Amino acid sequence: MGTRRVLVTGCSSGIGMAVAVRLAKEKGFKVVATMRDLEKREPLERVAGDTLNRSLEIRQLDACCEDSIRECVDSLQDRRVDVLVSNAGVGMIGPLECHSVSDMQGLFDTNFFGLVRLVKEVLPDMKRRRSGHIVVMSSIMGIQGLLFNDVYSASKFAVEGFCESLAVQAMKFSVKMTLVEPGPVGTEFERKVYEDAEKMDLAGADEETARIFREIYLPYSRMVFNSLAQTPEEIAEQTLQLITAKEPPFRHQTNRVYMPMTALKHADPTGRLPLDTFYKLLFKHDSLFTASLGLLRMLQKRTGKSSN
Ligand SMILES: NC(=O)c1ccc[n+]([C@@H]2O[C@H](COP(=O)([O-])OP(=O)(O)OC[C@H]3O[C@@H](n4cnc5c(N)ncnc54)[C@H](OP(=O)(O)O)[C@@H]3O)[C@@H](O)[C@H]2O)c1
Repeated sequence: MGTRRVLVTGCSSGIGMAVAVRLAKEKGFKVVATMRDLEKREPLERVAGDTLNRSLEIRQLDACCEDSIRECVDSLQDRRVDVLVSNAGVGMIGPLECHSVSDMQGLFDTNFFGLVRLVKEVLPDMKRRRSGHIVVMSSIMGIQGLLFNDVYSASKFAVEGFCESLAVQAMKFSVKMTLVEPGPVGTEFERKVYEDAEKMDLAGADEETARIFREIYLPYSRMVFNSLAQTPEEIAEQTLQLITAKEPPFRHQTNRVYMPMTALKHADPTGRLPLDTFYKLLFKHDSLFTASLGLLRMLQKRTGKSSN
């Protein structure tokens, strides 16, 4: 196979940056690392090292702007994108009552419609060429919803439904699709959502909900991050494996310790099992929650932290 051109979105930090750099270091790839604000290019330039302007070039692309996506793709020779890594995304946590509908729409505009815009731009060419791979940074929350992540999780469910529907058509044209489903990953994402949570005006929520968010959800959620988060480099390594696989899977969970959680969902079509389990873990048996976390952490260490 000749050199493949990979376009990655959201490369100013985190997973996008790690994926772009990892692929650029691998033989056989030319990476177009994009970000919405080129003023933020310095950290990527630093980690790209001598791949910069050789196997990695930096371009502007805002996933919320069709013109910017078109301009970026038009600027590439033959408009050719062999692999799209749709990674740009934003988070949102907290009681529903504390978010405005326009903030929620903004999140969907990036996480869901950002993907839709990108796919609309590159899929027709891929279909014409009868080759291509669309890799989408989804989340474990695209499979299982989580308390106080209602809107973020909904956006990732939308991503999953969109890809699941499109994948069969894509297959007919020999275009591959892969959903990457990380659990927690230590990036700017985490810092931003917790920072927003600290500043959040909880006056819109009733006292009990605000207390559950502050005193139960936030500490537990931090504990989960501190215990189980993967690094962006681990996600990048697994993404490389997916892109170079002869037959890449449609879904890939990056963190083995989350598999029992998603298995609960598939084990009970009524949906009661995951609901009851989460409810009991959070509200009835907080010591069980802490103990399970310790056990998972041990398991993660034994399996080398990741599933590959
Ligand atoms: N971190 C986690 O725990 C986790 C877990 C599961 C899935 N994910 C998913 O992984 C993806 C990457 O997140 P991350 O953890 O690497 O977070 P991150 O460090 O905050 O990176 C997010 C990237 O998306 C970019 N972005 C946001 N809106 C954009 C837009 N309209 N157009 C182009 N780029 C835009 C950001 O650019 P700016 O710097 O300009 O804001 C940044 O480069 C997201 O889709 C996220 O949902 C993350």
